[in-house]
Amino acid sequence: MKEKILEKFSEIFGNDGEIQTFFAPGRVNLIGEHTDYNGGHVFPCALTIGTYAAVRKRKDKTLRFYSMNFEHLGIITSSILELTYKKEDDWANYPKGVIWALKHRGYEIEEGMDVLYFGNIPNASGLSSSASLEVLTGYILKELFQLNFYMLELALISQFAENKFIGVNCGIMDQFAVAMGKKDNAIFLDTSNLACEYAPIKLENAKIVIASSNKKRGLGDSKYNERRSECEEALKELKTVLTIESLGDLTEEEFEAHKKAIGDPVRVKRAKHAVYENQRTIKAVKALKANDIAEFGQLMNASHVSLRDDYEVTGIELDTLVETAWTQKGVIGSRMTGAGFGGCTVSIVEEGYVQEFIENVGKTYENKIGYKADFYVVDIGNGPSRI
Ligand code: GLA
Repeated sequence: MKEKILEKFSEIFGNDGEIQTFFAPGRVNLIGEHTDYNGGHVFPCALTIGTYAAVRKRKDKTLRFYSMNFEHLGIITSSILELTYKKEDDWANYPKGVIWALKHRGYEIEEGMDVLYFGNIPNASGLSSSASLEVLTGYILKELFQLNFYMLELALISQFAENKFIGVNCGIMDQFAVAMGKKDNAIFLDTSNLACEYAPIKLENAKIVIASSNKKRGLGDSKYNERRSECEEALKELKTVLTIESLGDLTEEEFEAHKKAIGDPVRVKRAKHAVYENQRTIKAVKALKANDIAEFGQLMNASHVSLRDDYEVTGIELDTLVETAWTQKGVIGSRMTGAGFGGCTVSIVEEGYVQEFIENVGKTYENKIGYKADFYVVDIGNGPSRI
């Protein structure tokens, strides 16, 4: 991969000067969906697929970006003196946003750079290609300009860029998982205080299989923000009868005892998902620690049902993938992952059945939906690094 990006870098930007190369992973969330902006727990892991970059520092203030995934857009040029969101800058708004966020936090970046990116995460798939690009850019700047910050701060800066520069009101899960990834471990993160614990994923004879629905998200971002406001509204209503900071503070019993304070049945469902999903995530990590993979799988399945029926963020594509997965031999658990409304599912499948799983689920999906799904058998990898 390194050779491939170096070769392309020379072709696009020339090969003089010192060219450095970096990588940041994508992520998949195993359980704990739509809990990160509700003060709940999440359980994602970084992947060995992600985003690569080749970089050269410049002596002036110019920034030049090129992506091998969007070659038709050519070189996108900007300046460290003029970091504003521009629609025509397309994907390059992500790296621009991170540079803007770093400067906003007082880090000194005096010179520009030429950067070439290549991602092997499918775009808009729900595996956080954007968080990967953001954290990678922050990491590059840290290395190039000897900026002094920890990976946790890098995650927060990247989230800040996404919230304030891009305008997507996401939680901390994606950037955290990408920045803090650890090989063969998932990250049990309490988003109410950012306390985190690594949990080794020992699946014995099973594999993590990701299925990309290839449905483009479209309305996704506005629906995402809508779910967030519904939860915020429900929290406000619950606060009239309870002393809590977030929906993540509640057990299932406490929620059931007080849910009548929420004045609308749709909001009751949204809040119910946030509360139950958080508790499911805590239970899932316990099950994993006890080596009870079967229980972990059951909780993944229950998570999908809740996202389908109460949170309503699945849709026919993700439901077809997951519901077909549930009927296959060797499937321990299967659910949608990420924001939903398209994107990917994650399944844990016994090794001997993976091929059959991909064939059967793929066939049923194509017959019902009319186009193909893509499958990836993935491994859990580390956070960003120099390569
Ligand atoms: C997106 C957001 C995350 C999280 C998930 C849903 O990936 O970026 O912050 O809210 O959706 O769990």
